[in-house]
Amino acid sequence: MNSIRVSLGQRSYSIVVADSFRPLPAQLTPLGLSGYGWVVSHPALLKRYGAQLLGPLRRAGWTLKIVTVPESESSKSLAMAQRVIDRISREAAMRVPVLFAFGGGVVGDLTGFVAAVLRRGVPYVQLPTTLLAQVDSAIGGKVGVDLPRGKNLVGAFHQPRLVWNNMALLRTLPPRQRRSGLAEVIKYGVIADPALFAYLEAHLAECLRLTPRAVRVMVERSCRIKARVVARDERETGDVRAHLNFGHTLGHALETATAYRRWTHGEAIAIGMCAAAHLAVASGRLPAREFQRIVRLLHAAGLPIRAPRVSRQAVLRALRYDKKFIRGRPRWVLPVRIGRVVVTEDVPEATVRRVLRDSLR
Ligand SMILES: NC(=O)c1ccc[n+]([C@@H]2O[C@H](COP(=O)([O-])OP(=O)(O)OC[C@H]3O[C@@H](n4cnc5c(N)ncnc54)[C@H](O)[C@@H]3O)[C@@H](O)[C@H]2O)c1
Ligand SMILES: [Zn+2]
Repeated sequence: MNSIRVSLGQRSYSIVVADSFRPLPAQLTPLGLSGYGWVVSHPALLKRYGAQLLGPLRRAGWTLKIVTVPESESSKSLAMAQRVIDRISREAAMRVPVLFAFGGGVVGDLTGFVAAVLRRGVPYVQLPTTLLAQVDSAIGGKVGVDLPRGKNLVGAFHQPRLVWNNMALLRTLPPRQRRSGLAEVIKYGVIADPALFAYLEAHLAECLRLTPRAVRVMVERSCRIKARVVARDERETGDVRAHLNFGHTLGHALETATAYRRWTHGEAIAIGMCAAAHLAVASGRLPAREFQRIVRLLHAAGLPIRAPRVSRQAVLRALRYDKKFIRGRPRWVLPVRIGRVVVTEDVPEATVRRVLRDSLR
């Protein structure tokens, strides 16, 4: 069991990397969390892993209630948040519940959002079950839901009290979800960690098979980077946290333009990273051979690098609604080499159009 600290003064917390839930209850007590909890999850996930999670907590004296949501990005909606809030507030009466987000990024973002607004904030714990959620979405306190016109357009910053990465759960992750999580790990390599990028190039098969050693490398290195970035720029007021948006400018627009149905989040940002790297080459910021390494790794990981049959108009419209769109221009995170990115709005529109034409063909 390893622990990585997210240092945020009074809001500091640990990311525990473990291979079971047995030691979890003992870690909650010193945080002042005990007693009464609500687990938010999906029915299938609870059927498979519910006993492993609920057993140790109940034996430690927790009273736990469960609320389930369907398995899809469409659960990240205001309507679903309201359903969960209604259910909890009706049954919790005067008690303050601790929320447990037990699932991937969809459950994590939704539960965190409910925790942020219920009674102006109740504590919550992230128990991420996908690679993507363990390396990224469960950390950092960005919580929220989507609107039909754009991703994550309603939300808050609300840090969890603890993140518990049980790596054993990843064994049942379907191949498509493994690749999707790998996309975010590749992102960390490009923005901050050339050694991680080289590891992924050299051990791609193990990473896709999720061997215990590969999972440990991917989860621990990614969590360390995210913890450091969040500690330096919790609310993305500077450029530091914005680095994590590499690939997300176009990625989010593609998700919105296809109503969140065609690609997983990881797939959409893979196309977005490819486009951002292309923009970086086309604007003279990135050497061509570094661009090729990025594209080659994404492609070898089985991730899409282009988005055929998508309406360019819909993508441009979605780009405009994105939070990263400021002063009338999209904000790009562009690699200057593997391990370093810059944030800029300064890319000629003609270059953007040319790269978009290439991405959407
Ligand atoms: N808050 C953030 O900082 C942040 C960062 C990155 C991504 N996100 C968000 O995260 C979401 C994507 O998260 P995701 O990729 O985890 O998708 P997801 O939550 O939809 O999970 C993917 C699928 O995997 C299944 N699953 C989960 N755990 C499993 C397991 N152990 N075994 C078998 N199947 C399992 C789920 O039931 C679901 O069907 C997007 O909405 C994205 O915007 C948020
Ligand atoms: Zn992401």
